[in-house]
Amino acid sequence: MAGRVFITGDKHGTFIPLFGLVKKFELRDTDILIIAGDAGYVWEENYNYTIDSLQQIFPGTIAFIDGNHENHTLLNDLKISQWNSGKVHQVGERVYHLMRGEVYSIYGNNFFAFGGARSVDKDRREEGISWWKEEEPTPDEIEYGKNQLIKYSKEIDYIITHETPLFARGYISRMKEIDEGYNLPALLDSWYKTVINAPRLKKWYFGHMHVDKLITPKLRGVYNDFLLAGDEKPIPWA
Ligand SMILES: [Fe+2]
Repeated sequence: MAGRVFITGDKHGTFIPLFGLVKKFELRDTDILIIAGDAGYVWEENYNYTIDSLQQIFPGTIAFIDGNHENHTLLNDLKISQWNSGKVHQVGERVYHLMRGEVYSIYGNNFFAFGGARSVDKDRREEGISWWKEEEPTPDEIEYGKNQLIKYSKEIDYIITHETPLFARGYISRMKEIDEGYNLPALLDSWYKTVINAPRLKKWYFGHMHVDKLITPKLRGVYNDFLLAGDEKPIPWA
């Protein structure tokens, strides 16, 4: 039996929703959970203990894109390896960081990943302690992501980003303001136009906004919900 792919949003280092999911839903070791950024499990220097606990709770594989609230220094120090045809940082035996602009072929579906965003609260955070400038994709990473998206547009089934296309913010009450000079949300609008009618695209999931909301038939915010990829009905976990 092919494994299943679940999608969820920002977890900020908490295990509680995972405990709930494991308690209420029969999970298998072939299951893959994708977190749309701000997973927050790689934060403290001794994050290995956190990852060990994560692997004890969840029987399958956890694959997260980076959000803004991650320890990017620790993530970027990890060895790069291959997982399902794309580059990853291997965080644990069954935990991976999906890198910006990579495409992963998972159980017959292709997932395009693009993490990163600008923290709205960065003025209240301390560099290297609770904020890292690498949270924001560089122009090179954006260029790579755009090229990958164009190259694989006919083959992509799912898109996972942490940041939200700009137009979607009009449907979300939280964090409507965008810093001057921060153009990733506007760029994602153009990416959206590029791929939204692509033949295989089923859904684009984004985190960051802390909303579980369908914005357009193919664009969905994820936060607390756990969804089977492509499925609209959340799995009850609380
Ligand atoms: Fe975020």
